[in-house]
Amino acid sequence: MAIMGKIWENARKLYKKIALPEGSEPRTLKAAEKIKSEKLAEVILLGNPDEIRKSAKDIGANIDGITIIEPKSSAKFTEYVNSFYELRKSKGITLEKAKEIMLDEIYFATMMVKQGDAYGMVSGAIHSTGDLLRPALQIIKTAPGISIVSSSFIMETQTKEFGEDGVLVFADCAINPNPNAEELASIALATASTAKSLCGFEPRIAMLSFSTKGSGKHEFVDKVVEATKIAKEKAPDLLIDGELQLDAAIVQKVATLKAPESKVAGRANVLIFPDLQSGNIGYKLVQRIAKAGTIGPVSQGFAKPINDLSRGCSVDDIVNVVAITAVQ
Ligand code: ACO
Repeated sequence: MAIMGKIWENARKLYKKIALPEGSEPRTLKAAEKIKSEKLAEVILLGNPDEIRKSAKDIGANIDGITIIEPKSSAKFTEYVNSFYELRKSKGITLEKAKEIMLDEIYFATMMVKQGDAYGMVSGAIHSTGDLLRPALQIIKTAPGISIVSSSFIMETQTKEFGEDGVLVFADCAINPNPNAEELASIALATASTAKSLCGFEPRIAMLSFSTKGSGKHEFVDKVVEATKIAKEKAPDLLIDGELQLDAAIVQKVATLKAPESKVAGRANVLIFPDLQSGNIGYKLVQRIAKAGTIGPVSQGFAKPINDLSRGCSVDDIVNVVAITAVQ
């Protein structure tokens, strides 16, 4: 994907330290080798050093010179346990429980990011989205002024017809099952920032629904209408419109018929789905059937960069998500 070239270039300049907690996972090891040889970031592998080296040898991955950290023997273990205990004691976590939790590589890597010992973390080749996000939601939390963490996908379609020369940003496709109107508005604004920072274009945001400008009546539609109103109030300078059906959002001919007054309809480059079912299904349809290039999920709204992988990810997906994390 053309857009990845720019992201790699920026990642090389920044050369950040990124923790990979699934240290012995074969695709992660191959990715670590590539990230090192491409000089995209300084990766740190977490796990048992013997197991990691054996796994690397078995698959022929050269990880010489890459730091390996095992939580239980790390000099930082006690510091992280104490910090985690302080953060979570009001939620009923005991010191004993904090010690047990900090042996988990994902919790440990998340704490590395929290304490500034790594810039960001990438995981999810073997763990579920929930396994990765829950520690990050508990430890890293949201950036100041952001109420909700969400995620987006950058989709590069094979034709240049839609979005910004074929590039569109979709959200939320991986985190929030059923955002309310306020949360949906936050997702739209966070995605606008992602579109600007990672894709470098001015966002034209469509708030998607099964209705266009009152053609359908339902509480699902009401939520999207309300979210559009909130997002416009919060960011009057952004181009946001809704509620729009997908065709009205991206096809000019349909937009002319269904939403002739809209500055977004027919030319949207950011698509905000009303819930996770439509968002997750939507991006996978475009990825699988239309064979669009896909980058993501890219987390939005965390106070520090944390990114999830799909369990179906390839080595190149991991390399790309590490580069994105480094530039976030
Ligand atoms: N933004 C900010 N904070 C949040 C969010 C959010 N989106 N969601 C939960 N939190 C907070 C909670 O308030 C809680 O805070 P506290 O413990 O300090 O009070 C903390 O995070 C942890 O919350 P939990 O209740 O433990 O976690 P929850 O059960 O809400 O799970 C999760 C959060 C894991 C993100 C859940 O919403 C989820 O599983 N989402 C769907 C993920 C998924 O399966 N995606 C599809 C696959 S991904 C793909 O296909 C690429």
